Amino acid sequence: MMSPSTTTYHPTPRLHPTTGTITALPTHPHTHNHHLHHHHCSGAPVPAATIDAMQQLEAANIAHFDALSEDYDRRHPEARELALRLARALRRVLPLDEDTTCVLDYACGSGQVSRALAPHVLRLVGVDISPRMVELYNARADAQGLEPHEMRAVGALAELDTQDRFDLVVCSMAYHHFVAVDDVSRELVKYLKPGGTLAVADIAHTELPEDCDDGAPPPPPIMAGYEHIVTHTRGFSEEDIRGVFVGAGLENVSFELFTSAKRQGRDVHFFLGTGTKPAEVA
Ligand SMILES: C[S@@+](CC[C@H](N)C(=O)[O-])C[C@H]1O[C@@H](n2cnc3c(N)ncnc32)[C@H](O)[C@@H]1O
Repeated sequence: MMSPSTTTYHPTPRLHPTTGTITALPTHPHTHNHHLHHHHCSGAPVPAATIDAMQQLEAANIAHFDALSEDYDRRHPEARELALRLARALRRVLPLDEDTTCVLDYACGSGQVSRALAPHVLRLVGVDISPRMVELYNARADAQGLEPHEMRAVGALAELDTQDRFDLVVCSMAYHHFVAVDDVSRELVKYLKPGGTLAVADIAHTELPEDCDDGAPPPPPIMAGYEHIVTHTRGFSEEDIRGVFVGAGLENVSFELFTSAKRQGRDVHFFLGTGTKPAEVA
């Protein structure tokens, strides 16, 4: 496992870390099945306002990513580059085995990360809240000649076989969308085999020297303008991710900046957070 101090920067001006174009809030009613149950691990009910916020965010995300779907890869060529870099970083820190490794790609989108990992693992299962993204993921898998047992996406964790457990659960560029990253993380850990790894990649909220120069006001959040689909518009700090991972019961938590990009003249850094499910926890 890579130590937190092993920070690497690979300037990649081509990357553009937006999640897509701005669309209006959906006008359709919220009818899909929830992906995650809205309760805290303690059993305490989640406040109604939080549930409302979650439902609004989820509905807006479905509308946004359904509308983009096929256009997503064309409009975001940087997503492929980011996925390739993430796959390389994952292979540096994790033992992937093309004969044994089973991967859950949560919030898989069109499958950029899955496709980058495909040559190095046995099986990939995608999950995404956007039905059109799920269709696209599966169409791409078909086009590559991959069988459903090798690479297939579904619309919710609840659609997986109850016994399905994975060596790696990866979630790339999606945590910033989630209202309750702690609940999502705990849920994802349930799908790990003992000793398996949760890997989250997203935008790092770093206090960079230029952010704090000569008393100037702090720059706007890097994802400003996307509040209708993004909760964490500044991304996540190492402290945020360590807290969430430890709270989800993970061990050997590690955080590294694995690549960076320029956006509107600003440097944006992308982190990879990993943590291991303790072997003794079922
Ligand atoms: C920016 S895309 C990233 C896609 C892919 N992981 C990648 O790295 O290319 C974010 C994805 O998260 C999905 N998403 C948003 N909220 C979600 C939720 N609550 N549960 C599952 N997927 C969600 C969206 O539908 C979208 O496909």
